[in-house]
Amino acid sequence: MSLLTGMLQLLPPETAHNVTIQLTKYGSLLLSKGFQDQSLHTNVKGLSFRNPLGIAAGFDKNAELIDPLLKIGFGFVECGTVTPMPQFGNSKPRVFRLKKYNAIINRLGFNNKGEKRFVKNLISAKKKGIVGSNIGPNKDSKNFIDDYLKIYRKISVSSDYVTINVSSPNTEALRELQRKEYLEVLLREISQIRDEETKRKPIMLKIDPDNSNDHYSMILNLVDKYNIDGVIATNTSLSRPEILRDLDEKREGGLSGAPIKDLSDKVLKFLYRETNQEIILIGVGGVGSALDVYNKIKLGASLVQLYTSLTFGGPQLINKILIDLVKLIKDDGFTNISEAVGVNNQ
Ligand SMILES: Cc1cc2nc3c(=O)[nH]c(=O)nc-3n(C[C@H](O)[C@H](O)[C@H](O)COP(=O)(O)O)c2cc1C
Repeated sequence: MSLLTGMLQLLPPETAHNVTIQLTKYGSLLLSKGFQDQSLHTNVKGLSFRNPLGIAAGFDKNAELIDPLLKIGFGFVECGTVTPMPQFGNSKPRVFRLKKYNAIINRLGFNNKGEKRFVKNLISAKKKGIVGSNIGPNKDSKNFIDDYLKIYRKISVSSDYVTINVSSPNTEALRELQRKEYLEVLLREISQIRDEETKRKPIMLKIDPDNSNDHYSMILNLVDKYNIDGVIATNTSLSRPEILRDLDEKREGGLSGAPIKDLSDKVLKFLYRETNQEIILIGVGGVGSALDVYNKIKLGASLVQLYTSLTFGGPQLINKILIDLVKLIKDDGFTNISEAVGVNNQ
C-alpha cells in the first residue's frame, strides 16, 4: 500500500473516494502505465480486451475517469450506474469501510449526475480500451422499466456494451425487477430496441448473489430467450457471512469485498454449468489478487471485475495482479488466458 493510499484511508470513505476522483482526473499524468502482455489479450463478443480485468460499476459513476482507469492497467471500465435524471442517492453516511475484513458496506442508492453529463463525458474520453455503461432507474421514477429503455436509447451508441443493473440492494424495489413477470418485459423490450440498432451492442445483465439456483435458472431462461449476451455475477450482498460475526457495527447496505468471494464464486460456478458456455460471464465479487482473478476465470468467467480491493490496495494493485496473472497462466502451460476459461468447472 502506498503512502497516499494509506492517507486516503484516514478520511471518511466517501470523502476519500471524492478525493481519489479529483486526484485521478487531474493527476493522471503521474499515474504509472498499465502492464501489457499478449497472453492476457482476449476477444469477447467481438470486442478486443487488452486484458480480462475491469473496474466494476460504481467506482466511476459519471464516466469521468475512463482514460486514467484504462491507463493504470484495467482492460475495461464499466461506468455507472447512471440513471436518466441526476440524483443525490440515500442520506449520508452511506459507505462504511470494514478494513479488518477487506470489505465495504454501501447504501449509496445510485448517486450520479444523470444521463446528459454521463454521455458528454463518455463521448469526450479517448477510450483506449473497452468501456461499458451500467444503467438503472431513478429512485422516484413512476415506471422503472421505462427508465431503462429511455437511458438505453441514449447511451448504447457511445458504449461498447451496456449492463442492465437489476441487482443493487439500495434502491427500494429494484431487486423486484428480477422477478420473472418484470424481468421478461424488461429484457423483451430492451432487446427489441437493440435489434433495431444499426450497430448491435452486447447487453449484460447484472445479478445479485442472494438468490436460489432455481431463481438463477429462471433468469438464464430469459437471458437465452431474449439473446442477452451475458451475465455479471455478482453485485453486492445483503447477507452477512459468518466471518463478519464479530462485526461491531450493524450497517445496512450491500456488502462487497473479500467476504462475498465464495458467494459470488458459487453463483458463477452454477451459471457456467447451466449455460454450456453459450453466454459470456463476468465474474465479480471479492477479487483482490491474481489468484482470485484466475480462479474466477477457471470457474467460467471470460472477464473479471473488481472494486473494493482497489480502495484498500491503491492503483499499483492492478499492475501487480496483471503481472502475477501472466505467471499463473504460464505455470499452467497456457499461452493465452482464454484457454483457462472454465477448466475447473467441466
Ligand atoms: C461503494 C460501491 C458502490 C457501488 N456502486 C455500484 C453501482 O452503482 N452499480 C453496480 O452495478 N454495482 C455497484 N457496486 C457493486 C460493484 O460493482 C461490485 O459488483 C461489488 O462491489 C462486488 O465486487 P468487489 O467485491 O470487487 O467490490 C458498488 C460497490 C461499491 C463498494
